[in-house]
Parts: sequence; structure tokens; C-alpha cells
Amino acid sequence: MSRANDSNIVKVQYNSDKNLNARQAFHNECSINKYGWTNWIFDQYNFKPNSKVIEFGCGNGSIWVKNKNRIPKDINVILTDFSEGMLNSAKNKLSDVKEIVNYSVMDIQNIEFEDNYFDVVIANHMLYHVPNRELAISEIARILKSDGTFYATTNGANNMKGLKDLVTKFDAQSNYKMFSITKEFGLENGEEQLKKHFNSIEKVIYEDSLHITNPKPLVDYILSLEGHTNINTIMTEKKVTDFYRYLEDIISKDGSIDIPKSSGMFIAKNPKK
Ligand SMILES: C[S@@+](CC[C@H](N)C(=O)[O-])C[C@H]1O[C@@H](n2cnc3c(N)ncnc32)[C@H](O)[C@@H]1O
Repeated sequence: MSRANDSNIVKVQYNSDKNLNARQAFHNECSINKYGWTNWIFDQYNFKPNSKVIEFGCGNGSIWVKNKNRIPKDINVILTDFSEGMLNSAKNKLSDVKEIVNYSVMDIQNIEFEDNYFDVVIANHMLYHVPNRELAISEIARILKSDGTFYATTNGANNMKGLKDLVTKFDAQSNYKMFSITKEFGLENGEEQLKKHFNSIEKVIYEDSLHITNPKPLVDYILSLEGHTNINTIMTEKKVTDFYRYLEDIISKDGSIDIPKSSGMFIAKNPKK
């Protein structure tokens, strides 16, 4: 177990949608690819007529919220997350979407559906938080129909490279630590883990990077990483103000702060039964 999948830390991070909202706002404002991550993800989904769909770790449901008018009318979707706060956030935003037939608090390590039940299973940006990922992936293969599809997004090792330097250059004494989620389940090692339970795995990459000209969403992003980093032990109120000024100075000198992103999706088919 690492800090990325320590349940106590993960539960605090996702107790409500506050932290995830801050990160999504940052990406929305500063990403150079204006097509948008949520649109791109929905483009990858292939829903056959009358598909039964389940998503694990749905978070605030942003992918469904942003694509409300693209959801096929004949599919049935169940949204699940182990955080009640997150699930309530999704439910509030999606109450008018009839195709989402159920919302359920559920840990992906404890799936109670019968074998060969779903046409589509989704687990976006969440497998790296799961301590017994081997069990979770085998359970996904079990509940998927033989011709079903599993979609899982994650990040690559180079995602947000340079972010740590910004904090450590601001305060060299800070001992800032970022806990790697991609070592658990990332674009580089995800296929290896999926292939134990799926015969066919494709990896698709979303090209993007961040161009930051306003420090506010970046500061909010960095502060949202409680648990993923030790930021809360470093940033006192006074330090946040100083950090804000530090970033403003870099932006006025260089014109912007530019940070690479690395994100994509695994599309796994033909589950091993
Ligand atoms: C980074 S967020 C991703 C949310 C959403 N899938 C997205 O892509 O925007 C990770 C989500 O996974 C949930 N989660 C973490 N561990 C989980 C587990 N073992 N079972 C179910 N959900 C979990 C968290 O509560 C959180 O909502």
C-alpha cells in the first residue's frame, strides 16, 4: 500500500466534491486543448442499443453532466462511488437524466452484481486509489458480458511535471512531497495489470497541456491535493499569500507558466472468464 491508495487518506480527499471541483476548474481554465477532456472521453464510449452501464468512482459525475444531451435514450446507467459526498454531488447535478437509473455507494473491491451482467463498465481516474486492484479488475471482468467493454482513464508519469518544482523553488525548506498515483495504475503500467483479465487492450492518449496566466486556479489546484501531497502541512495562510505573489511574479516575467499533461484511456475487451 502507498499513500495513493491508503483508504483513510483517499476518503478524506474525496469526502466531498470540493477538491475535485478545484482541479476540474483549473483544467477547464488552463488547458490548451479546448475540445475538452469530458467530450473526448464520451467520444470513446461505444454504447450498443439497450446497453447496461455501470461506473465505479464516478466522482461528481462531470462526464455525464457535460454530455447530458449525448446520452443514448435506450441505455441504463448505474453510477457508484465509495464516497457518499461525491455520489450526492453527481445525483444533484444529474437528477433530470432519466437514463441514470440508480446511484449507489459502492467500493469497487466489493461488487455484488451477477456474472456477465453489464455491457459497459467505466472506472475513470480511480483504479490507482484501489488497494486490492487485482481483485477489482477481476471483478470487472466477471460482471462484464463477453462482448462488453471496460473503459479506464488515468494519467501518465509525466503528468504535471514541473508542478513540484514550483513549490520547492518557492520554499526550499518545505520538504514538499507528491505521492505518485501513476506508479499504482498509470498509462505506463496499466496494460500489464489489465492483461491478466482481458484479452484485448487498447490505449488512447488525449493530447493536452496547461498554459497558466492566472495564479488563482493553480493555487486552488495545489491546495486541493491534500493527502496526495503534504501541502496542508506546508501552506499556512501567510504562505499561501506569498506563494500567490511568487506565481504572479513568474507570470509577469515569463508571460505564463506552462506545464505538460499526460492522460489517456485504456479500452479493454474480451474479458477472460
Ligand atoms: C479522481 S476522482 C475521479 C472521479 C471521476 N471518475 C472523474 O474521472 O472525474 C476518484 C474517485 O474515485 C472514488 N474512489 C476511490 N477509491 C474508491 C473505491 N475503492 N471504490 C469506489 N470509488 C472509489 C473517489 O471517491 C473519487 O470520487
